[in-house]
Amino acid sequence: MNHFELRDGADGLELHAEDVALAAIAEACGTPTYVYSRATIERHYRVMDEALGGVPNSICYAVKAASNLAILGLLAKLGAGFDIVSVGELERVLAAGGLPERVMFSGVGKRDDEIERALRVGIRCFNVESAWELERIEAVAERVGRRAPISVRVNPDVDPQTHAYIATGLRTSKFGVPMVEAQAMYRRAAASPHLHVVGIDCHIGSQITQVEPLAAALDRVLELVDALADEGIAIEHVDMGGGLGITYKDEEPAPPAAVGRAYAERLGPRGLELVVEPGRLIVGNAGVLLMRVLGVKTGEAKTFVIVDAAMNDNIRPSLYGAWQQLEPVCPSGRNETTVDVVGPICESGDFFARDRVLPEVRAGELLAMRSAGAYGFTMASTYNSRPRAAEVMVDGSRLTVVRERESLRALWAGERLLDEDDAGPSAI
Ligand code: LLP
Repeated sequence: MNHFELRDGADGLELHAEDVALAAIAEACGTPTYVYSRATIERHYRVMDEALGGVPNSICYAVKAASNLAILGLLAKLGAGFDIVSVGELERVLAAGGLPERVMFSGVGKRDDEIERALRVGIRCFNVESAWELERIEAVAERVGRRAPISVRVNPDVDPQTHAYIATGLRTSKFGVPMVEAQAMYRRAAASPHLHVVGIDCHIGSQITQVEPLAAALDRVLELVDALADEGIAIEHVDMGGGLGITYKDEEPAPPAAVGRAYAERLGPRGLELVVEPGRLIVGNAGVLLMRVLGVKTGEAKTFVIVDAAMNDNIRPSLYGAWQQLEPVCPSGRNETTVDVVGPICESGDFFARDRVLPEVRAGELLAMRSAGAYGFTMASTYNSRPRAAEVMVDGSRLTVVRERESLRALWAGERLLDEDDAGPSAI
């Protein structure tokens, strides 16, 4: 459920975010603009929270899905922890008021400076992805004089049945370590005075719509927990990562409560804390990308609706062939036509929709792209020297610009012209 719906507006039905008309946002803030709904984010968080009610748990929001400080601050207030993959995400969490002791540090390769900063602020756990990373963390921990809390991210070799680019728990993927190797890493960590074994971690992929792969992954993880217990290595928490899918079109993802039940049944009375790292589920359907039609061009074979947002603003359709709903902000009642909705970027891959049936739209009209809250703005670039979109948060009838539209000047801040008089050798 989300809080974007058609309501009566000044000129008939208009798409609203909570109590604010999207057309009013376009008027006030320009386009393209990402519009988030606070009530929707809060609702999704609560749904997840209730779904896990059967076991002691911790929800660590995956910052990469949408990392605006306003979103992180909101989730911190709701009691969320955070899953990060870089020191940049760590600093964002801290800037937004998130607690370091609720931060999980995931990611396939962490630099020494990132490990050091995380140790100094006192994060909850490093999710370690290789034997060499364990050694690096141990070395930095010794130098800094702080014991590093660790989990090993295991690769359970389970097919999450999702897009190949976002499947991470298969033997062929770069993520995690095989079960056998993980056991050896745990032995090594348990014997180190600089490391503290606290958990076990896995994340098999994203946009998963069935319970079975997640349950199968937990079964495999628990086999290792038992094997470790036999060796006297105790695990305090099991981190199952994120991955719960949402409805973009007609998917019917398993409800979070069903996933929660499957986890609870397996964890039973073991006394292990369950950690999850949802991203898309929390913010995916809590955001839309608002754009304006620049013009309509009828070619020999196709009609193109050219909009002022592009693949640099939301790369998901170009990169994954993702389908996201597009709809007029002010429905016109005109006849339906089949069109490609494309951006102005100089790439044929710059499209939002191909052969999409939409009511006829005209230059100057507004379109909203749904389900854009997750991996929309965070994957944006400035390709073609296009400043990144503004981000706004709606809360009831209140509108807050939570990120100004990027200025043109910001695009080349830090760049330098060459000094033609200086023909001397390079300083480096
Ligand atoms: N934890 C870890 C370790 C992850 O790598 C991810 C996502 C998550 C949690 C959150 O997963 P979620 O609950 O959002 O599925 N850009 C792609 C998705 C990439 C997901 C990467 N990892 C997309 O737009 O579909």
